[in-house]
Amino acid sequence: MPTPRVLVVDDEHLIRWSLEQHLEKNGYEVITTSNGREAVQIVQDVLPEAVLLDIQMPGMDGIEVLRAIREIDPDVPVVMITAHGGVGSAVAAMKLGAYDYVEKPFDIQRITVLLANALERRTLKGEVTRFRSEQGRRYGLDRMVGESPSIRTVKETIEKIARSDAATVLLQGESGTGKDLAAKIVHYQSARGEFPFVEINCSALPETLVESELFGHERGAYTDAKTMRRGLFELADGGTVFLDEIGDMPLGLQPKLLKAIEEKTFRRIGSARDIRVDVRVIAATNKNLPELARARAFREDLFYRLNVIPLRLPPLRERREDVPLLVRHFVDAFSRECRKPVRGIDPSAERLLAAYDWPGNVRELRNIIERAIILENAQFILPAHLPPEIASPGPPAPEARGTIVVTENGVSLEEVEKELIGQALKLAAGNQVKAARLLHLTRDVLRYRMKKYGYL
Ligand SMILES: Nc1ncnc2c1ncn2[C@@H]1O[C@H](COP(=O)(O)OP(=O)(O)OP(=O)(O)O)[C@@H](O)[C@H]1O
Ligand SMILES: [Mg+2]
Repeated sequence: MPTPRVLVVDDEHLIRWSLEQHLEKNGYEVITTSNGREAVQIVQDVLPEAVLLDIQMPGMDGIEVLRAIREIDPDVPVVMITAHGGVGSAVAAMKLGAYDYVEKPFDIQRITVLLANALERRTLKGEVTRFRSEQGRRYGLDRMVGESPSIRTVKETIEKIARSDAATVLLQGESGTGKDLAAKIVHYQSARGEFPFVEINCSALPETLVESELFGHERGAYTDAKTMRRGLFELADGGTVFLDEIGDMPLGLQPKLLKAIEEKTFRRIGSARDIRVDVRVIAATNKNLPELARARAFREDLFYRLNVIPLRLPPLRERREDVPLLVRHFVDAFSRECRKPVRGIDPSAERLLAAYDWPGNVRELRNIIERAIILENAQFILPAHLPPEIASPGPPAPEARGTIVVTENGVSLEEVEKELIGQALKLAAGNQVKAARLLHLTRDVLRYRMKKYGYL
């Protein structure tokens, strides 16, 4: 760290001189002035890392100087120096955002300790801000790879959600479809991005722990509560709470959660005091919440409260045209990460991927590419590098061949056609001539339709 610069502002020559001597010995660069107006000018010109500021000075007094400094640099720590018995004005200064104060005659060691702490906190704060803006860049919309109509709609919705500040979001989608990713993009692209993103997986913990994780507890609230603990709602103030696997949220806790969302207040366990926070709640689930609500396994009022903005992440098999883009994306990412010169994927391997059903969605695809790149040393990913269920697919499981029926909700013939073509390609292990024969089509017609549905 470069030598930190401290500005010392005091109208008494002796105090300036002794502070300068002492602080220089402790590794600071010291600038001094006896005049408030000049102090403001210096802050403007050199942006010191810390300021020691006398309250009583002729002309512009310390409080006015502090106000002016805050306008130039809201973060620089300012330690006030007050005359003996001048605590009243010191308190006023603290309210204006002074870091701390010392009374004259002061112990010079105490000033050194105060400065060291103030600077450390400033560095940490800077690091946190830098970390968050870095995260913000990492979680841009472009992280969500895909050009299919459905993923485009998802991205447009994410953009809108990020711009609207507070509404609760419910992310629904099968495992591995990108719910975590979507939640982080919403957070980091919103005005809340500079504040914390905290997450809790509701299925991983027993009820009492979930409550204390969410809302915190007072010391002694229960046997193991040896110290006070803040919950995620408190820690996330200004930011976002991500409730993953909300379908597993214990029923007993759901009314408290509903209240926290609706009234933006909650209580730590063992406390009678309401705490008010400003957080956005994003919940995610791969379960069918309305169905759970009908079965009384999830509170209907909570469901409606969460579902203000629903966002469904489509399974990968419904947007097969994104498979090649995702493959490209992960090949680039992992070949860079593993420092292996993998250039791409062999067309026959790509066809197998296009025909596969992806029960584990994008996560499964990502893992397959990662594994192929780690284990193999070829320039191109070949069918032999893929796991057996993809490289040599058996006939589709009987349940996957369910009879199609038209219901009140209607059926898209195109979806049916797309699905059957996918099944035929799978059965024919990607061989187009065979797949065409299975569908009673010519190979050209099959290829035309494969293009249409994104298999090519
Ligand atoms: N459209 C996408 N583009 C790029 N990467 C994606 C996309 N969707 C998901 N991923 C990646 O796939 C992996 C799984 O996604 P994620 O963890 O967000 O899924 P999830 O829906 O939360 O799954 P689960 O229900 O199992 O928690 C992550 O590494 C994520 O970054
Ligand atoms: Mg997840």
